[in-house]
Amino acid sequence: VILVAGGSGRLGTLVVADLAAAGADVRVLTRSPACARRRLAAGIEVALGDVRDPVSLAEPMAGVTTVVSAVHGFDGTGGVTPASVDRDGNRHLLAAASRVGADVVLVSVVGAAPQHPMELFRMKWSAEQAVMASCVPWTVVRSSAFAETWVEILVETAGRSGRPVVFGRGQNPINFVAVKDVAAAVVRAVMDTSLRGTVLEVGGPENLTLCELARRVQQARGWSGPPRHVPPLALRAMSVMLAGIHPRSARRAVAALAMDSMPVPYDPSSARQAHPWLSCTRVRAGAGPT
Ligand SMILES: NC(=O)c1ccc[n+]([C@@H]2O[C@H](COP(=O)([O-])OP(=O)(O)OC[C@H]3O[C@@H](n4cnc5c(N)ncnc54)[C@H](OP(=O)(O)O)[C@@H]3O)[C@@H](O)[C@H]2O)c1
Repeated sequence: VILVAGGSGRLGTLVVADLAAAGADVRVLTRSPACARRRLAAGIEVALGDVRDPVSLAEPMAGVTTVVSAVHGFDGTGGVTPASVDRDGNRHLLAAASRVGADVVLVSVVGAAPQHPMELFRMKWSAEQAVMASCVPWTVVRSSAFAETWVEILVETAGRSGRPVVFGRGQNPINFVAVKDVAAAVVRAVMDTSLRGTVLEVGGPENLTLCELARRVQQARGWSGPPRHVPPLALRAMSVMLAGIHPRSARRAVAALAMDSMPVPYDPSSARQAHPWLSCTRVRAGAGPT
């Protein structure tokens, strides 16, 4: 059995569908089985569990040969944070996998680093370190930003005005990847055990600024007018003022500032040279969320 933690999410649902289509026995770990079932094809097994609670992982782990972690706590509220989910939760999954002798495929982010300004990137780095130091056979799949997530944000913020909201100046080139390409890499990582001990990086063929992506979103829908901006100063104020009272919004502001100012382009050519089967699809800003 392949246990997919995060199998109810944007990436996870594609991974689950592809694994099931390839004939694998798939079980999805979720905090909300009823919601997960609505997002998954009939017949996919669903197990109740929370990566923050190690005890809850024991039962879902029965018969598991590979654990996929496609969870994150970036957008969570309350106790759901990058520290509790991406760092500690992944450690709990790793320990549970080790107990049953399963392999681990960890989904992480391109640019994960211990000193990164975004907590998510620091916590992903910490999870990667734990996985790599363990005795569990592992593969890490690092991805750049999901295009579909950002297209959805731009469409939603445009509302009826047709003018998306761009966080910051929107002039910084960012690598956006089609989520189906990431799913294909995760599925390959599950199936191809020669990839154990490997970090796979998946990115898209283009680096686009948020303004360019917003323009593509508008063109695809026949919208016009300049995008609306949340100025960097406002983002900075939000990141400080909301830190204690609304951590999720503060995290979003920090992320927006980082994406607006840090170099986040990515060149997928060396990863594709090493792994020519990696897909690299152009961003389709006209597509709805997958
Ligand atoms: N979005 C991006 O731009 C991006 C870029 C690079 C890498 N990634 C990585 O790709 C993976 C998938 O991201 P996504 O955007 O597809 O995610 P998503 O749609 O937001 O879904 C998040 C998933 O995490 C699960 N989850 C969260 N907290 C959990 C907990 N405490 N216990 C168990 N499950 C928990 C949720 O399951 P339930 O709600 O059903 O419990 C859900 O399936 C993540 O590892 C993310 O860090 C994302």
